[in-house]
Amino acid sequence: MIIQPRTRGFICLTAHPEGAAENIKNQIEYVKSKGEIKNGPKKVLVIGASTGFGIASRISAAFGSGAATIGVFFEKPASEGKLGTAGWYNSAAFEKEAHSAGLYAKSINGDAFSDEIKAQTIELIKKDLGQIDLVVYSLASPRRTHPKTGVQHSSVLKPIEQPFTNKTVDFHTGVVSDISIQPVDSTDDINNTVAVMGGEDWKFWIEDLKAAGVLAEGVKTVAYSYIGPELTYPIYRNGTIGRAKDDLEATVPAINELLKDLHGISYVSVNKALVTQSSSAIPVVPLYISLLYKVMKEKGIHEGTIEQMQRLFAERLYNDVETPLDDKGRIRVDDLEMRADVQAEVAKLWEQANTENLEEISDIKGYRDDFFQLFGFNFDNIDYNKDTSELVQVPSLA
Ligand code: NAD
Ligand code: NA
Repeated sequence: MIIQPRTRGFICLTAHPEGAAENIKNQIEYVKSKGEIKNGPKKVLVIGASTGFGIASRISAAFGSGAATIGVFFEKPASEGKLGTAGWYNSAAFEKEAHSAGLYAKSINGDAFSDEIKAQTIELIKKDLGQIDLVVYSLASPRRTHPKTGVQHSSVLKPIEQPFTNKTVDFHTGVVSDISIQPVDSTDDINNTVAVMGGEDWKFWIEDLKAAGVLAEGVKTVAYSYIGPELTYPIYRNGTIGRAKDDLEATVPAINELLKDLHGISYVSVNKALVTQSSSAIPVVPLYISLLYKVMKEKGIHEGTIEQMQRLFAERLYNDVETPLDDKGRIRVDDLEMRADVQAEVAKLWEQANTENLEEISDIKGYRDDFFQLFGFNFDNIDYNKDTSELVQVPSLA
């Protein structure tokens, strides 16, 4: 099959298996180039393991400290005449590379919010690994069926009190325009978003893993959050998704309590704004990211998901000194994004940005490149006019 990018709105409907493999190989090479992560994790569960920060975490653990990994994700498998999703091809490529390097890697494809997938994961840990020493929680989803009530919650991206008007970009066309987003209709919008992206499911995972006795002494767990600049506060940190992040962060003490007798610990890491399938769906944020990329690349401090996760592991979670935390107890690997000089320059560019000057003052090209690479496109060394097999399987699921 000849596979080309096909987009609808901010999503790409196709994914290229060889390109996905290239993306994974590049990430593995980066992690190897940074050397061994001393005292790194050895047996790791990654929930949300197939794309974005999750696959980068899995790669950092496996190729940074030789960890056995179990990855849980929700992806469409490749089948006869039908393409799999990018996360499917990423996972196929990851397992193949891990197995050739002699590393244990198995995956579970299904709804991580469900009790069934949690039970299935626990069985696999018991059978193959005994206990795990790191749980990475990297889910991003628009909806969650609550395992206890059966209610399906859908998250929304809305401001809370007032309508929010600001600039946004259609990153495909480069057209900058004003967008106005109406605030939540009722507290239901907030509650539903918290139910999907808040901390409850992370806690459910840790409760079940602990009750099953599959968490090792000294276990660590980490989930990911975002803060960002004031200009996105109304739609992000002070909006519905921000309430969910507040809830996620507020879950840390409860999880620490659960892990106390194992001398375990939980963290939320605040990560940098990056192009992922999830972030491209948030209004205003893609324009901010394309300006941020420009400024950070000029300063030589740009990082992608793999640089972020390798640094999180090597310099925060597993460094020899105590993990540095902010005044709210969070890990900050958004430190470079939030530097005052970076933010001042982005704010200045934000005022200027319009359709006419966008190519010049922003890194919209870098945004697009990253976006298409998420789906295995835009790699120079791959011939996209050539026939390729779409029927690539995840070895442990084949
Ligand atoms: P992503 O969309 O790339 O990854 C989401 C992952 O969750 C995928 O592996 C997907 O398969 C999995 N998933 C979704 N629903 C599932 C379900 N029901 N069952 C099992 N797996 C499911 O997203 P991302 O940007 O890497 O986000 C991961 C986390 O990082 C989120 O908490 C996000 O808020 C946070 N974060 C993102 C950014 C950013 O700029 N992208 C910045 C800081 C923090
Ligand atoms: Na992820």
